[in-house]
Amino acid sequence: MGTGILTPAHLTQAAISKIKSADIVHALVPDPLGLSTIKKLNSKLCNLAEFYYDINSDRNGENRLESYDRMVEIVLKDVFHGLKVCCIFYGHPGVYVYPSHVVIEKARKAGYKAEMLPAISAEDCLYADLGIDPGRCGSQSYEASQYLFYQHTTNTFANMILWQIGVVGDESLKRLEPSEFGLAMLADKLSNFYPQDHEVILYEASRLPIMDYRSDKIELNQLVQAKVSTITTLVVPPLSNLPINREFCEKWNIDLESLN
Ligand SMILES: C[S@@+](CC[C@H](N)C(=O)[O-])C[C@H]1O[C@@H](n2cnc3c(N)ncnc32)[C@H](O)[C@@H]1O
Repeated sequence: MGTGILTPAHLTQAAISKIKSADIVHALVPDPLGLSTIKKLNSKLCNLAEFYYDINSDRNGENRLESYDRMVEIVLKDVFHGLKVCCIFYGHPGVYVYPSHVVIEKARKAGYKAEMLPAISAEDCLYADLGIDPGRCGSQSYEASQYLFYQHTTNTFANMILWQIGVVGDESLKRLEPSEFGLAMLADKLSNFYPQDHEVILYEASRLPIMDYRSDKIELNQLVQAKVSTITTLVVPPLSNLPINREFCEKWNIDLESLN
């Protein structure tokens, strides 16, 4: 299950009930308030952050992926001992979270019942804070490095949401900052489709009730110098209005006047 972005405000009733009734809770939740909230609901808490990869000591494996695999093993050990296990990640547990999907798949394969509860993700907060409705002109959402290194298409008529720009370009999965040329590569790729002065938004949802969200509007040509962190998400608004597909509409006798 997930805590949502703002804990405890985003915790659902369903999640609270699962935490309370678990024999053991495993949590990978970065904010101390979130962790203490969970501990109050169930004192049998294992903090998975202790198994997170640390670049300075090479502790917990060679990179983040290896440390996630260790977390999966630790959680499954309790499942295989017959305990009722609740595993918690921040935001939505299935959105950009590798170990949650693996742990569920492996538990089910071994014959155990496993389910994922939905929760509020950073993208949900983004729609609320920035007033973006994905239904208005569509939305595309990519992991930033994947957008660079693979052949994703770019739809300039729809919003683009780029996750993990705080580690963009780092294929080693070791750093907690962009690679040396990460932001430059991103600006380079985007400039194939958008003009240099196209406005983009650096977004960070609030994680504490006293904090405001971050919504810094910059031009694409300023992206290389932008201050980004591990929680920054980049929004690239559409370049132009969505044009009508006249050929298709005429073929099917669609009333063009009714389309706005
Ligand atoms: C490993 S993913 C986890 C996402 C999380 N499970 C969710 O549901 O939002 C981390 C990425 O999520 C986004 N993210 C996490 N926290 C955020 C926040 N407070 N505001 C904006 N984006 C955030 C950023 O793109 C960040 O690099």
